[in-house]
Amino acid sequence: MTEGIMGKDYLLLLNCFVLVTLGLPQGAVPLRLQRVDVPAYKLRGDSALLQCHYDLGDDALYSVKWYKDDEEFYRFVPKATPQHSSYRIDGVKVDHHLSNEKQVLLRSVNLKSSGVYRCEVSAEAPSFASAQREGRMEVVFLPKDDPSITGPHDKLYQVGDEINLNCTSGKSYPASVLHWYINDQEVRQEDLLVPLPAVTHPHGLVTSALGLRFTVLAHHFPQGSMRVRCVARVSPVLWEGGRESVVLRQPLDDVREALLLVHGSGSVASPPATLLLLLLAAGAATVGHLVSS
Ligand SMILES: *[C@@H]1O[C@H](CO)[C@@H](O)[C@H](O)[C@H]1NC(C)=O
Repeated sequence: MTEGIMGKDYLLLLNCFVLVTLGLPQGAVPLRLQRVDVPAYKLRGDSALLQCHYDLGDDALYSVKWYKDDEEFYRFVPKATPQHSSYRIDGVKVDHHLSNEKQVLLRSVNLKSSGVYRCEVSAEAPSFASAQREGRMEVVFLPKDDPSITGPHDKLYQVGDEINLNCTSGKSYPASVLHWYINDQEVRQEDLLVPLPAVTHPHGLVTSALGLRFTVLAHHFPQGSMRVRCVARVSPVLWEGGRESVVLRQPLDDVREALLLVHGSGSVASPPATLLLLLLAAGAATVGHLVSS
């Protein structure tokens, strides 16, 4: 049924191309589409409001249509009964009560709702003018879990031993970016970091992983213990004019971490010869407790 309607429109569009050259009477103000507001990112489960700002000028509205990735999902035709129609496509649930000739409300977006949304406004005869604009929306899924640090538990370390740990993020979209910190200093030396493959799960969620490998040295224990942290960050990628650009500082920036505390057995003054890998812990909330224990 959808295809039938779209087929007819296609013919109408062809007509427009012929007629558009005739245009409006001289001096008449034509239809103008000023702006389309599509939220750059939304959290999964949120509603998304898409707005089409246009000025009809001297034209009369024939239709407003919305497309996602070139597939029509909603149209508003003032002279039709009913005025609204929507078409099922993956990830798009239109709330008819809050949608009209100016806006569309999508309920409960999911990862499949990510894409390019286009509004197309068409005028009636005699101008048959039409205008369109688009915007991109990315749906973000924040991890439910903190990252986890894995490696040998309850192992005794001596200065000169190698510590080998993995950090795995919770499932998210886009993928979490992981960073290691030793005593609050970010580990930047490439040779200490072990890149591990990301895993994509059903429904598109991703877990990232990053290894850390370093030799235990006395200076790692300035206060008799060493804090090893893994920080996972989700910074959504925003799209600007069809080009991908990573926006560094923005309100949606999810940061989670896991902490590993390695206790030295010696005193603060004399760096320990034997070290006990004491605890694997997740979550910033537990830090205070661990440090005092
Ligand atoms: C880290 O992950 C890699 C790849 O899954 C695995 O081969 C390695 O044994 C892991 N190392 C630790 C310390 O868990």
